Amino acid sequence: MTITSAATEQADLAVVAPTVITVDRSAVVAPVNRRIFGSFVEHLGRCVYDGIYEPGHPTANEDGFRLDVIELVKELGSSTVRYPGGNFVSGYRWEDGVGPRDQRPVRRDLAWHSLESNQVGLDEFARWCELTGSELMMAVNLGTRGIEAALDLLEYTNHPSGTSLSEQRIANGAKDPYNIRMWCLGNEMDGPWQIGHMSAEDYGKLAARTASAMKTADKDLELVVCGSSGSAMPTFGEWERVVLEHSYNYVDYISCHAYYQERNGDLGSYLASSLDMQYFIETVVATADHVKHKLKSKKTIQLSFDEWNIWYLDEHQASDEVNEDWTHAPRQLEDTYSVADAVVFGNLLMTLLKNHDRVAAASLAQLVNVIAPIMTEPGGDTWRQTTFFPFSVTSRLAKGEVLRPRIDAGTYTTAVYGEAPLVDAVATADAATGESALFLVNRSQTEAIDVTINVSDLNATVITEAVTLHDEDVYAKNTLQDQDRVGLKQLEGAVLDEGTLTVTLPPVSWSAVALG
Ligand code: AHR
Repeated sequence: MTITSAATEQADLAVVAPTVITVDRSAVVAPVNRRIFGSFVEHLGRCVYDGIYEPGHPTANEDGFRLDVIELVKELGSSTVRYPGGNFVSGYRWEDGVGPRDQRPVRRDLAWHSLESNQVGLDEFARWCELTGSELMMAVNLGTRGIEAALDLLEYTNHPSGTSLSEQRIANGAKDPYNIRMWCLGNEMDGPWQIGHMSAEDYGKLAARTASAMKTADKDLELVVCGSSGSAMPTFGEWERVVLEHSYNYVDYISCHAYYQERNGDLGSYLASSLDMQYFIETVVATADHVKHKLKSKKTIQLSFDEWNIWYLDEHQASDEVNEDWTHAPRQLEDTYSVADAVVFGNLLMTLLKNHDRVAAASLAQLVNVIAPIMTEPGGDTWRQTTFFPFSVTSRLAKGEVLRPRIDAGTYTTAVYGEAPLVDAVATADAATGESALFLVNRSQTEAIDVTINVSDLNATVITEAVTLHDEDVYAKNTLQDQDRVGLKQLEGAVLDEGTLTVTLPPVSWSAVALG
């Protein structure tokens, strides 16, 4: 099963059988860990410059950060923020971005063919994280650099004081160490596009040596080794096996990256994209556990799904987007998302939750302007893309424990995935507050679907919120000119009666129901 298969016209052959869902309070996947709601800020296009940072903007603070963007980031509810890349990190010298701003060098960023002014670096970004309430997740450069630069960076960020680099941090205004816990050991090192990409053998050895050295400094660091840059890579699976065989004892997570898009007008297959994500997760878990048993290890490696999103990558690759003029912060990868995109997106987030026992952390790639839920205009507005809504609602309502419900739904035929369920769902329940939530998707392009949900285990008495993302025009989008074209609507007709919740899910919709 692969998202790159040629798709033929999809026939939405929906025979809408009654859909019955049962929420079993004992079918616990895992406690909700806020790290599942992470995001990603890369020095790419207008994500940092003219995105989170725009010194001349009317809302900018003394650091040059836009406060209107910070407000939306908080509303989005993202937790951990991965930084500073992505492909960018593989050519990055972190030292360029610290110290007096007027002495920082301008450099070429080969990953995105742009100029990097280094006006935003580690210290500024750490302050931005504090303002947004985010946990900083840092990536080290294993493309052009190696162990020494990684250790230096770790000393700068985490050592309290009294060493050359920790004193440099203090002199730069950060008295307390940042105490960064999660670290990515490079980025997508299997990708031929990656600066300094290498074979699984070479990377596995380098990652192991870097991780071992970093853990000598702090044994409690949480280290993420690079998995394949996508499940369509020819080395997918084998890469994970080889890399983990070298690094298993020193790392805690293996990364997964996946981007989805509608191809060839095949909306039916696109709406079932989460089946591919499920396959991806199961394959990486199987490979990691194979290595665990082979090495007779007691440790279980978790997945850091630290790049996931909708990305119209084919269109970007086909267009002549390379920034030959080497400008600063060009408009790159600025996808505009539709209602259908947001429904698929919401379903991907549900899939991460359904696998939360193994997917312990995730990062929506990315946060602002670059394939992002938040858009900005220089000197002007900031607005929410359609994908903003499923993320913010899920992040706000998903509390306590994730429950995997039993779903009896009809199916439809897709060109890429064969038979796919018309309805998908996941639930959360918080024993401490008695609150629970259901997140649901209807993939049918033609039919509203009545769903009967047995929630008696949740002991709920009232529906506190019922919202849906749906539109007559599945390709409706929010744009600079029409910023509120798409938003959440009331999910009409939801009824809770003696342990049975009934809802009608509109065609091509993502919905959430909160119970108290
Ligand atoms: O998120 C955009 C890019 O996608 C990242 O820089 C890279 O890691 C991935 O290929």
